Amino acid sequence: GMIEKGGYPHFMIKEIFDQPRVLRDCMRGRVNKEVKEILLSAVIDHKDKLLNAKRFILTACGTSWHAALIGKQMLESIAKIPVEVEYASEFRYRDPVITDQDVVFAISQSGETADTLAAIELAKSRGAYIYGICNAIGSSISRASDTGTYIHVGPEIGVASTKAFTGQVAVLAMLTLCLAKEKGTITDERYKYLVDQLASVPDMIEKILKTSGGIEKIAPTFTYARNFIYLGRGFNYPVALEGALKLKEISYIHAEGYPAAEMKHGPIALVDEEMPVVFIAPHNSLYEKVLSNIQEVKARKGRILSIVSDGDKDVTAFSDYIIEVPHVDPIFEPLLTVVPLQLISYYIAVAKGREVDQPRNLAKSVTVE
Ligand code: G6P
Repeated sequence: GMIEKGGYPHFMIKEIFDQPRVLRDCMRGRVNKEVKEILLSAVIDHKDKLLNAKRFILTACGTSWHAALIGKQMLESIAKIPVEVEYASEFRYRDPVITDQDVVFAISQSGETADTLAAIELAKSRGAYIYGICNAIGSSISRASDTGTYIHVGPEIGVASTKAFTGQVAVLAMLTLCLAKEKGTITDERYKYLVDQLASVPDMIEKILKTSGGIEKIAPTFTYARNFIYLGRGFNYPVALEGALKLKEISYIHAEGYPAAEMKHGPIALVDEEMPVVFIAPHNSLYEKVLSNIQEVKARKGRILSIVSDGDKDVTAFSDYIIEVPHVDPIFEPLLTVVPLQLISYYIAVAKGREVDQPRNLAKSVTVE
């Protein structure tokens, strides 16, 4: 009933609004705001294994796989570690090269996903070191791992993952900064700045959640749509995939996430005056590039909804609707830009009368392959 949902009509919206609080829980005892330092016990205890690894492989399914794509970009750009991202269901069956020089990370909210568990069993049998990033304490994947970090965001009930995704990205961010510091791939000044930025993310999400009323108002204007396109670049490309997945899962509207520049190699053919195109376009080094992608969609009369930075002007001028998010260092943008996409899919699904917490054909935890 309403009580276990904390007064919200669905678990999903409760969990979206839980994010500032649970991300603080996730960072508690790990991120020290005063001295601007991050300590992950798994990194401290298994430093040699992690620092000497030739390569990291991140394996996962669904939303957790999207978090892995963001983790790859953070780990490569900041900690300078080569990273591969693998769908667990593909990885386990394609006889991949795995050695004892690899660390294989399993990212799983439930810690019970059959394909992800099988992927780490395979990696373990080939000598890899296994690092679990799970939410469920004592779950099968956390038990099968050599070490790991819990995301500590509390039980997630809604089938469509929300707070677990931001928790996974937050853990990958802490891992990246912790490793970069140990490896010396980051200056002291930048490290402290990024620690401070990460610690401020929960407050920034709180600000975004205050705009939910506006998002709720926009949502009904999109219920007619049979298709959606989500576009982003760099750190926001995986966010485009996640936004599209959220919409498909709970509203049953077909949606495609794509790297914005790849649009011209196919999806742009779908754009007409009926096609909603969601751009994730905060103010970073790719802003001008995304802006020109937006102009291409505008020229074909697409309906443009953009996620922009506070005070944005140029993208706003070409968009039919905008949702603003605070400025943050680009590596942490996904933690902010995903939130309006969670909200838009939630409110569209509600406007369509869908079973938000129990979408048809989907399961919270996929324990069969
Ligand atoms: C199911 C859920 C998704 C989830 C995926 C992976 O499909 O509906 O929300 O992202 O499994 O689950 P996991 O527990 O391994 O993160």
